[in-house]
Amino acid sequence: MHVNEAFRRVFGADPDGVWAAPGRVNLIGEHTDYNDGFALPIAIPQTTLLAARRRDDGRLRLHSAQGDGPVVDLAVADLAPGAVTTWAAYPAGVVWALADAGHRVGGADLHFDSTVPTGAGLSSSAALECAVAFAYDDLYGLGLGPPALARLAQRAENAFAGVPCGVMDQMASACCTEGAALHLDSRGTVYEQVPFAPGARGLSLLVVDTRVKHDLGDGAYAALRAGCEQAAALLGLAALRDLPADGLDAAARVLPARLLPLVRHVVSENARVTEAVAHLRAGRVEALGPILTAAHASLRDDYRVSCAETDLAAVAAVDAGALGARITGGGFGGSVIVLVEEDRARAVGAAVTAAFGGAGYRTPHLFPVAPAAGARRVA
Ligand code: GLA
Repeated sequence: MHVNEAFRRVFGADPDGVWAAPGRVNLIGEHTDYNDGFALPIAIPQTTLLAARRRDDGRLRLHSAQGDGPVVDLAVADLAPGAVTTWAAYPAGVVWALADAGHRVGGADLHFDSTVPTGAGLSSSAALECAVAFAYDDLYGLGLGPPALARLAQRAENAFAGVPCGVMDQMASACCTEGAALHLDSRGTVYEQVPFAPGARGLSLLVVDTRVKHDLGDGAYAALRAGCEQAAALLGLAALRDLPADGLDAAARVLPARLLPLVRHVVSENARVTEAVAHLRAGRVEALGPILTAAHASLRDDYRVSCAETDLAAVAAVDAGALGARITGGGFGGSVIVLVEEDRARAVGAAVTAAFGGAGYRTPHLFPVAPAAGARRVA
């Protein structure tokens, strides 16, 4: 494995092992996780590999093949929120979160090599975090298991890296299995695997990375989350998940006009997850198409996390004959997913690329994905 060689080159010794943690695309259930709601992500083949070696001197040394910058050398004892502000905040944050939760962890040498594109809405940061969480679980014999490691990874991102994300991305990277989507109930982090094999139905799931870099750390995501929490408080609810679909009219009488569209999105999106899961369980994969397209409209018009490039990708795909398309992940750029019959996939991809060219946008990156395995030790 080339990460082993790279590790030896950087750190001058063999790693103790190699761990992998994937990125994800979310099929449906966007901006629901921090409202205690539902989501349906799959892990994708794009993965972060981590070659790691335990150190007993309290040093945490980090190196990434991407950018191939210098080794970041930190003392575990000095880790504190805000102390690291580069990419290293995600992995270092996990070590901090473990220690802060009372686990007896020390240092390590960590070399990362990732095929998850950054800023594409495919959870490159969750992949980094989960790789470290799984490696530490083994190296330090913690026995925590995937959901607990996902929660710690989320804590790292919230409290250490300062991004107030929900738990979906980390749960997807930690708990997904090959051939299935993860039906996640973010309240209590309950989940089940729902078989999802578009290829077996002659369908393909395409990712269109618009190459508009999204950044959840810039305040817009936090503002949306705060708006949802404010709406729930005004409605006397623990979280927006507790508002039933037929409660929207009553909610409209209580809420300020600026909060109502957020609530409408969350309530309708939770219902779309339930509907999508019922279709998948009945083997109707193609029925996901219109649900994706409806979700895109809700994210564009009510939640307002879309942008011109993602809107164009979704519209061009459906106009060219896709079954459905929508923005995936946090939004503000990033990627669109497209459900399409396999024999139309090439034409739909070409139509999206041509539409981008016509609009003067950068050429998007297109690739098919199938549900891959979650985080694990690979060597
Ligand atoms: C980002 C966050 C997730 C989730 C999505 C939107 O990916 O990290 O927790 O909120 O946005 O569904």
